[in-house]
Formats: sequence, structure tokens, C-alpha cells
Amino acid sequence: MFAIRDVRALVSETTQEGHGLKKSVGPTQLTAMGVGAIIGTGIFVVIGEGAGIAGPAVILSFVLAAVACTFSALSYAELASSIPVSGSAYTYTYATLGEIVAWIIGWDLILEYGVSVAAIAVGWGGNLNAFLDAAFGVALPDAIAKSPEDGGIFNLPAVFIVLAITLLLVRGVTESARVNLVMVGVKLAVLLFFIVVALFNFGTGNFHPFAPAGTDGITAATAIIFFAYIGFDAVSTGSEEAKNPAKDLPLAIIGSLVICTIFYVLTAVGALGIASPEQLESSDAPLAAALDQGAGISWAASILALGAVVAITSVVLVILYGQTRIFFAMCRDGLLPQRLAKVNPRYGTPARLTIGLGVLISILAALVPLSEIVKLVNIGTLFAFVLVNIGVIILRRTRPEMPRPYRVPWSPVLPILGVLFAVYLMADLPLSTWIRFVVWLALGLAIYFLYGYKHSRLRTEPAADDGGTPGWARDSTPEVPPGDKK
Ligand code: ALA
Repeated sequence: MFAIRDVRALVSETTQEGHGLKKSVGPTQLTAMGVGAIIGTGIFVVIGEGAGIAGPAVILSFVLAAVACTFSALSYAELASSIPVSGSAYTYTYATLGEIVAWIIGWDLILEYGVSVAAIAVGWGGNLNAFLDAAFGVALPDAIAKSPEDGGIFNLPAVFIVLAITLLLVRGVTESARVNLVMVGVKLAVLLFFIVVALFNFGTGNFHPFAPAGTDGITAATAIIFFAYIGFDAVSTGSEEAKNPAKDLPLAIIGSLVICTIFYVLTAVGALGIASPEQLESSDAPLAAALDQGAGISWAASILALGAVVAITSVVLVILYGQTRIFFAMCRDGLLPQRLAKVNPRYGTPARLTIGLGVLISILAALVPLSEIVKLVNIGTLFAFVLVNIGVIILRRTRPEMPRPYRVPWSPVLPILGVLFAVYLMADLPLSTWIRFVVWLALGLAIYFLYGYKHSRLRTEPAADDGGTPGWARDSTPEVPPGDKK
């Protein structure tokens, strides 16, 4: 159960016939991938809930969440640059903490990526409706625009966006990355537009009292708006397709986090400069509402609603991309059916898997409401952060000789801070979220013992690794991952 995959075998498998992904993504595209995954529902929708909890001090919550993410981002950067293989935290844990922990994290990442795509798609549909309403005075009827719990029958726009992005991803990552680059440009422009309009209409009246719920309110809001930062780790899920993973991955992970933090803090300041926390909280599209009700500029509100639709589209794209690559890695390792991990010869992408996941997620998107899922996704992601930080510390001890094109400074201090911050935010989430999370993990463990344990490649094909030595019995040897010039 604690078998470890050899890093060299992991890297060499990526070049195996029929299982190799195209190495076609450069540094700008990778950074855009991060920004594409990060800026979306969090800043356009969840900010309202945060403002409701913390008041204007939600601005500090954005800073605190960014600090918490920074430590983990550095750990992601170290692992992604040393192990440039599909699967992100799942693969890193497989190489460090053993198979069962890797399975748990992989299962956890399905929650973070797959389930969140469904929720994000629901947010997309809501914003589309808000735009149609603001710009043309027409909106889809609730019956085909909301989940049963929200008073509808099924959510057609959410299904539409998931399936459309699925087809785009089947076509190939180069095309998808290009489309993403355009959408990222649009979303940054829209946020900039919001910030400028807000600054021209700025007032300080809404800033008193600044922190009505005290520090508890600030940390509770941080645990919620943390959702806005999820996504920088999605860059690492694409590491196998990066042209120069050693240099570009750390740059893209940290770069996208810095860019988003600057935009978020300015946006939060601007939002409170024109609208009260109550106005933000009561709207499904708080930034548009701030322009409309707060500043009284409704033409700007429809531009913003449209921008939100574009922004959330790219989040769906990158997070769904991440989900397919994590699933791909788990199938390739035999923990899930291996036949799913076939790369389509025409497109160079795992087409079958992408379509299967897209269909499942679209069913979920048709039926689930957005609200509670955000908390569940947050707890899953924070748990992944904990394991990634621990992974860095363990790998430094067990594999000191492994080339690390990027190293976290002051290890183990910074990774330990990463763990502490993540646990701190997890503790701020409600008990109901914890219960759902534990049930999800228990279900995952049952699947592991019934399927993954028996079919794992480490047990069924030990000869697939070097010299026929089973992965868990082999001692460490230095290896050079692709992209490392030393
Ligand atoms: N950070 C992403 C968003 O806010 C998940 O939509």
C-alpha cells in the first residue's frame, strides 16, 4: 500500500508509445493557463459571500488567502519542475508518500477539479442569464436554467458550456491553450475596466465599520474566498506538455498567483468603494451589481456580466483540462482502468477519457447548486496543499540527489508554514463540509481496495519499471528529468 513509484520510471513512461502527450506549451501559455484557472467564479461571485462575512475587511481576506497559497505554490513549483509528469499532486505523492496516499490525493483532486467544474459551470450559466437580462431584457426561464434545488428542472447553460469545452479539449491542447490566451486577455481587461470605473466613483463611506465580525470574520471569509485562488496548481497538471518544465513551471505557477493577487485586492477595494457589503452579498453577480446599484452605471454592469461569462469560460477550460490529466495519470498507473488512458492518434489527447469525464460532469452540472460545493472544493484543495508541502519535505530527505531545477527557499520552514496555513483554513470550514469530505474519502478508499490495489501497475507489471525490479523494492538512483540542462 505504501509502494512508491520511481521518479525515473514516471518520467520515462511519458514517452511510451500511445501514452505520450504532445510537448507543445510555452511559458506565456502556461502562465495564462494559471490565470485562466484562477480568475473566475471566485472574484465574480464568491466575493459577495466573503463581503457578507467579513465586511470591507474581505480585502484582508484576499491578502491572507494569497499568503496561504504562496507557500504551497512554491512547493508545487519545486515538485512540478523536478517531476514533470501529468497528474500534479497525485503523481508527486506517488513518488514520495506511497500508493495509498497518492490514491487518496488523486481521489481528492477529482473533487477539486471535476466537482468544481460542475459548480463553476452553474455559475457560468447564472452570469450568462444576468448578461442577457441586463443587455437585452430576456432571460432563460428557471426551469431550464436552474438545478432542482434552486427551483428549476435542469441547468441547460451549464450542460452546454461543459460539453463545448470538452470538445475543445478533445481537439488538442495547443488549440485550447490559444483560445485560453484570448480569454485571459479579455478577463484581465474586464477586471481592469471594473477597477478604473470603481476608482472614478470611489467613496470611503462603505469602509466603516471595517471589520464588523473581527478577526474571526476575516479568517472565516478567507476560507471561503480561497476558492478564488484555486487554479495555480492547474499549471502543474499540464507539466508533461510543457516545452521546458524546469524553468517555465515555477515561473508560471508563481507568476499567475502574483498577477491574480494584485487584481483581486484592487477589485475588492474598488467594489467596496462603490457598493456596501450588503449589496455585494445579496447579488449572484456582485461586481455587476456594484456597478449597477452602487455606482448607478448600468451599461458598465452589462459589460462586466459579459466579461464574467468569458472569464468563467476559461476557468472551466483549464480546470476540466486538469481533471482529464489527473485521471489520465491514475489510469496509466492502473489504479483506474488502464484502457481509458489511450491517447487519440489524430489529436494527441486522451479523447475517450475527456469525453467520458465531460459527459459525467455535465450531468452533475445539470443538477447541482453552486453554494455548498465551493466549501467542499476548498477543503479538498487545502488537503491537497497539505500533502504537497509534506511531499517536498519528505522528498528532500529520501531523494536528496534528485535534480531540482527549482528549490523552495528555506525548506522545511516554508513548506511547514504552507501546511499550517492550509490546516488553519480547513479548520474554519463548517462541520457539514468536513463530514461530506470524509464520506468522499471513505468512498475512494473502498474503490482503492476493490479495484486499484489489485490492478496497480506496480503489482501487475513490475517489469515495466527498470530492469524488472519492482518499483517499491528499488533503491534510489539519480536521474535527470527532461528539460533539465545540468
Ligand atoms: N479560482 C477559480 C474561480 O474562482 C476556481 O473560479
